[in-house]
Amino acid sequence: MSCAFLFLFDGYLVSNSSSSSVDKCDVFEGSWIREESYPLYNASQCPFAEIGFHCFANGRKDGGNAKWRWKPKNCDIPRFDVRTVLIKLRGKRVIFVGDSLSRTQWESLICLLMTGVEDKKSVYEVNGNKITKQIRFLSVRFSSFDLKIDFYRSVFLVQPATVPIRSPKMVKSTLRVDKLDDISQEWFDSDILIFNSGHWWTQGCYFQVGKSLKLGMPITAGFRTALKTWASWVETMVNTNRTSVFFRTFESSHWSGRNRNSCKVTQHPWSSSWGKDQSTISDIIIKIVRKMKVSVTILHVTPMISFRSNGHVGTRSNNPSVPDCSHWCLPGVPDMWNEILLNLLPMDQVSLK
Ligand SMILES: *[C@@H]1O[C@H](CO)[C@@H](O)[C@H](O)[C@H]1NC(C)=O
Ligand SMILES: *[C@@H]1O[C@H](CO)[C@@H](O)[C@H](O)[C@H]1NC(C)=O
Repeated sequence: MSCAFLFLFDGYLVSNSSSSSVDKCDVFEGSWIREESYPLYNASQCPFAEIGFHCFANGRKDGGNAKWRWKPKNCDIPRFDVRTVLIKLRGKRVIFVGDSLSRTQWESLICLLMTGVEDKKSVYEVNGNKITKQIRFLSVRFSSFDLKIDFYRSVFLVQPATVPIRSPKMVKSTLRVDKLDDISQEWFDSDILIFNSGHWWTQGCYFQVGKSLKLGMPITAGFRTALKTWASWVETMVNTNRTSVFFRTFESSHWSGRNRNSCKVTQHPWSSSWGKDQSTISDIIIKIVRKMKVSVTILHVTPMISFRSNGHVGTRSNNPSVPDCSHWCLPGVPDMWNEILLNLLPMDQVSLK
């Protein structure tokens, strides 16, 4: 069944195919199929694909990891036309906020869109910054289209605080779960806002609510409180008439072995998700977003990435002595998140300037 026309409806794509019944298609339910026409760009020709994710340049010569397309069960994700997208994004500001997996999606979107730009030098980082792991802010401008694609590193979304003196050694950080990250004031001036969080929520955090510190607070409770803080920030600070807001769910890694320290990048996607299609973090995100007073679209990538044991960097990073079964190669899995994102944008509402 083909979906010639797709409309956004409560986070789902709705097909208006000629059949009289309305087919509802959950784009996040499906499978990966081999696609020889992929990948859609060459990372060697995109200076924004950071070397750590450029697996081909780091020796993964099969390139097969990038030749997989996500096929939703009841519809197809139409291939976007890069020139049309660039024209429709003219004058816009797109912002990714989150951790390094958000940075990968930011890099992927820039590389995808750069294929439609002849003069590659017309695309540049506004402050001349290089991509590094710790950098808080990166802004890439497509000058011929007056389009900005920005990344803010905010791994918790809420405000980190100083670890109190005389804390137990296990405490690595304190988080003000009732206060959004200070740099959030720079996020609401945007047309498309894409968030993620969850991968840094691990043992060893104090959670601070108001003046009280809570060491015993479970991580899930801390995350839930933080996400509620985020949700009320979106509801009060973001003009959702202008800004389309997205939240990407948790991406399970593919570490294995008894101590979860072995990283074997497979040649093909797993045929089973081995339970990685479920995530408590994702469940919390979905539950909170569904209760929000404004419309936020969930990019529920947890099930689709669970199969992609072949998409990780592994030893094909710029530091092969530290295998990586958390991050993805570029081109690769994050390109599909962007193809879905571009199809979910309310493009018809975007006026042509
Ligand atoms: C990407 O482009 C470079 C030249 O810029 C070329 O050497 C390389 O083979 C290309 N990679 C792929 C996978 O086509
Ligand atoms: C958004 O649009 C709605 C309906 O058109 C309107 O009632 C509301 O005031 C608008 N909000 C803002 C912040 O412009």
